[in-house]
Amino acid sequence: MQPTKTATLSFDGKSIDLPMYSPTAGPDVIDIRKLYSQADVFTYDPGFTSTAACESTITFIDGDEGVLLHRGYPIDQLASKSHFLEVCFLLLYGELPSSAALEDFETRVTRHTMVHEQMHNFFRGFRRDAHPMATMVGVVGAMSAFYHDSLDINDTWQREVAAIRLIAKVPTIAAMAYKYSIGQPFVYPRNELDYASNFLSMCFAVPAEPYYANPILARAMDRIFILHADHEQNASTSTVRLASSSGANPFACIAAGIACLWGPAHGGANQACLEMLKEIGSVDRIPEFIARAKDKNDPFRLMGFGHRVYKNFDPRATVMKQSADEVLDLLGVANNPLLQVAKELERVALQDEYFAEKKLFPNVDFYSGIILEAMGFPTSMFTPIFAVSRTVGWISQWKEQIADPNLKIGRPRQLYLGETTRDYTDIEKR
Ligand code: ACO
Repeated sequence: MQPTKTATLSFDGKSIDLPMYSPTAGPDVIDIRKLYSQADVFTYDPGFTSTAACESTITFIDGDEGVLLHRGYPIDQLASKSHFLEVCFLLLYGELPSSAALEDFETRVTRHTMVHEQMHNFFRGFRRDAHPMATMVGVVGAMSAFYHDSLDINDTWQREVAAIRLIAKVPTIAAMAYKYSIGQPFVYPRNELDYASNFLSMCFAVPAEPYYANPILARAMDRIFILHADHEQNASTSTVRLASSSGANPFACIAAGIACLWGPAHGGANQACLEMLKEIGSVDRIPEFIARAKDKNDPFRLMGFGHRVYKNFDPRATVMKQSADEVLDLLGVANNPLLQVAKELERVALQDEYFAEKKLFPNVDFYSGIILEAMGFPTSMFTPIFAVSRTVGWISQWKEQIADPNLKIGRPRQLYLGETTRDYTDIEKR
């Protein structure tokens, strides 16, 4: 990559020239890698609001225009025309597949859906009331103890196998975490089913009777997977990249991503949002909650609202809202009270000066919880389903990073404000 411009930084009577690069889309980037060695200063950017930590060709977001592209393809086109495994192929390999390539990829993923039988015992070590995310962090991390033949990150073929294994097995692990939490037997994957139907089957089938996955619900599930598949350098993806920069194995890195995703400011927002909608309960209580969200002295925030990058609208939320209408209609619950509260809350918030001024719009999680609950999932499964979808994004970004010849261990600097050197005081003198 060749610099396209130069930025000049002046301070303390010094002047430093810094190379600049122009991306294919998005703002120009100032290269500060040599700043410390040349000028003896650090930059300060907690939360990485202005810092690019890597080069990437996978996903692009224009937050001001509400644009999300995977390998150049708009998310609404992928959600309406594609299906999850094709999107996985696109994210992993960069292009839409031919029919033969897609069939081969689907076969490879499908043939890896079972987990090592010994893993069943591993699940049984957890308390039944463990949150499925807690179980997932543990079991996905433990994959590195079960699949020794795909741990060598320097071997291209092993990296490929690890990627396929993760995309194939994380749904099985999420479904097993759910089954374990409700005391039902684990349901083995059914390889004649598509990816989404198989996930529904592993979650909702019981050995006592046949299970039929409704194709419209399977389509809605598939769309939820697509909408969460990747999202550029978000917190959990950056966690995966940082973990992997030390050379850690892929299963350990994805477990780190799952841990980060769990937080309510990130993937945990879908659970928190539905709990909030239930707490609000009826449209007449909306003004009270809007007032709380605006109150600086109240920690309450409108869950499912706001985004670090989207300052116009979240294009995934638009598709999700349509899906919510379709699914609830299909299930004959179009008058679902939570959907009514959600729609009215969105309407009121979008007209409110506070939300307009801060550019706060519904994000992907505002409507996803309503769909997932209508499909029969408990709130505790919302974030695990997000993790199932995002696994492909994490592993695509991981593969991209490992193949980058410029890879360095991630090691941020700090603005130190603590004590300088002082002498140790013996305990009797303190
Ligand atoms: N409700 C009320 N006020 C909010 C909200 C909200 N949901 N989100 C942001 N604000 C306010 C903040 O109080 C802050 O106000 P101030 O400038 O007066 O201090 C301002 O808007 C900017 O907010 P920040 O937290 O600084 O913005 P940031 O980019 O760091 O945070 C975040 C983004 C974490 C998503 C935030 O909007 C939030 O907490 N939203 C609710 C949780 C949520 O829905 N998370 C899902 C994100 S999408 C995803 O992970 C799939």
